[in-house]
Amino acid sequence: MARVVITGRIPSEAVEMLRSEHDVWAWEQTTPISRAELLEQVAGADALVTLLTEKVDAELLDAAGVQLQVVANVAVGYNNIDVPACRERNVIATNTPGVLTDATADIAMALILMSTRRLAAGERVIREQQPWQWGMFFMLGTSIQGRRLGIVGMGQIGAALARRAKAFGMTIAYSNRNEIAPELVQELGCVRLDLAELLATSDVVSLHCPYSPDTHHLIGATELAAMQPDSFLINTARGPVVDEAALAAALRHGVIAGAGLDVFENEPTVHPDLLDLDNVVLIPHLGSATIETRTAMAILAVRNALAVLCGDAAPTPITV
Ligand code: GLV
Repeated sequence: MARVVITGRIPSEAVEMLRSEHDVWAWEQTTPISRAELLEQVAGADALVTLLTEKVDAELLDAAGVQLQVVANVAVGYNNIDVPACRERNVIATNTPGVLTDATADIAMALILMSTRRLAAGERVIREQQPWQWGMFFMLGTSIQGRRLGIVGMGQIGAALARRAKAFGMTIAYSNRNEIAPELVQELGCVRLDLAELLATSDVVSLHCPYSPDTHHLIGATELAAMQPDSFLINTARGPVVDEAALAAALRHGVIAGAGLDVFENEPTVHPDLLDLDNVVLIPHLGSATIETRTAMAILAVRNALAVLCGDAAPTPITV
């Protein structure tokens, strides 16, 4: 029996898969585990099942010990994991691609509609019991049909959003480090642009790139100024891809028309300058938050951990 440490609450089906074979310790509380408690509990672990709220760095890996074989992150993003530090210690790191693609693309599409059609602002009118009445010019938004969606990072989630947006009548441009498969280009009818051109010509820009030192503040004051004044920015990737203070200033001064954010630079804190702006939709990191998706993510993470513990290849290793 191996010792498996689960650093946060995950669906019980996934925990049971581990418990039936191994000695499992799991953090059971709804708030994230403290760093001190985490460092203590990982000692002697052969496998860690981690959430994106836990930083898996050299200190944590060393606190676990040399027997550690696998870190299975219950997320597709793995900026919380120091992958080179894992590699140096022969620890296999895994993530959960694929199973959250649709859920996250749904949220990105929802944010596009919420921002362009002013849905959150409209809901506030009713909840705050402001006087209102149907009117020809009341709360007009922007139609997305025939508008260009610029996707930054055309991986699985970017492509899934492109399909949705296409069904809503949008045209698709993308910027990506690599060329994408010709069949996908054909299916989506999309054009590849460099980031500067994408920003300057898109009506909605949606971010789907991973967060790394290379993408830190990829969108800052200069990039926002390069966007059109009637355009929208959507972020369901990672908060620090956007300079939040610069975004708040751009929204306040009409540099862009609006934004929809699911992720924030210093979660769970949201930049105070965003909070009183009517032209930004703010939701609390819900990209993968469906029962089905979270269950699938946890089960995939556990399959990764179980595979490595019995000497098999992990189904979804992090390969960068
Ligand atoms: C969620 O943000 C994830 O990366 O899975």
